[in-house]
Amino acid sequence: MTDECFRHPRLAALYDALEPDRSDLDAYVHMAEEAEARSVLDIGCGTGVFALLLADRGIEVVGVDPAEASIDVAEGKPGSERVRWIRGDVSALPPLQVDLATMTANAAQEIVPPESWQETLRGAYASLRPGGRLMFETRDPARRAWEEWNREESYRVTEIPGVGAVESWVEVTAVSRPLVTFRYTYVFAVDGHVLTSDSTLRFREREEVETDLSAHGYVVEDVRQAPDRPGRELVFLARRPQAG
Ligand SMILES: C[S@@+](CC[C@H](N)C(=O)[O-])C[C@H]1O[C@@H](n2cnc3c(N)ncnc32)[C@H](O)[C@@H]1O
Repeated sequence: MTDECFRHPRLAALYDALEPDRSDLDAYVHMAEEAEARSVLDIGCGTGVFALLLADRGIEVVGVDPAEASIDVAEGKPGSERVRWIRGDVSALPPLQVDLATMTANAAQEIVPPESWQETLRGAYASLRPGGRLMFETRDPARRAWEEWNREESYRVTEIPGVGAVESWVEVTAVSRPLVTFRYTYVFAVDGHVLTSDSTLRFREREEVETDLSAHGYVVEDVRQAPDRPGRELVFLARRPQAG
């Protein structure tokens, strides 16, 4: 089960407007180009921004996400017919042999139960061709990003075409490391409706992720910074070995 903000139709429709700066995706596009990827699996594709960027470049893309309302948004976008959208988690994937698998925008942190996380790493591995790569990011726990998730720092009013003004803010409700729980609140000016979305993220340590990747047979090639968020993210690049 995914969070209300991704699965409620009214909230899924806000996602792109509330996150307009997607320069975070540049590093992933760059990797797809560097790896000369002809096929990509985007796990936790959400509203499909990255999947559609790749499809525009002629890359064959499969986007998978359990949030149906987010996939509905993706399917409504120009060019969406070039992407294969799958509603579900990795267990819903058909057999694949992609060059690159990705989890952008900290989607990995959304996968909280240990068994789901292991299943995701296993499913991504099975979907890669030998020699294919997995790239994803997770917030570095040492940066304690949740300390900035409060109403004062996050409150904003966004004017959204066709929707009107939306007030939004986030507040942490519990920190029990490695889990951090928080609540987003949205107020729609047009009808005064208030919606909330509760989320829990898992903040994994670098060593833990490296151990998990190795246990699933990946070779960890690099752990990088996110160029657009220096010092804040751990970006993992792992490879399925040629014989494996
Ligand atoms: C912060 S959003 C990122 C969406 C997209 N990757 C982007 O760059 O905009 C996290 C996404 O992870 C998805 N998600 C949650 N649990 C998941 C799971 N077990 N498998 C795949 N995706 C999952 C959510 O539904 C949500 O769409």
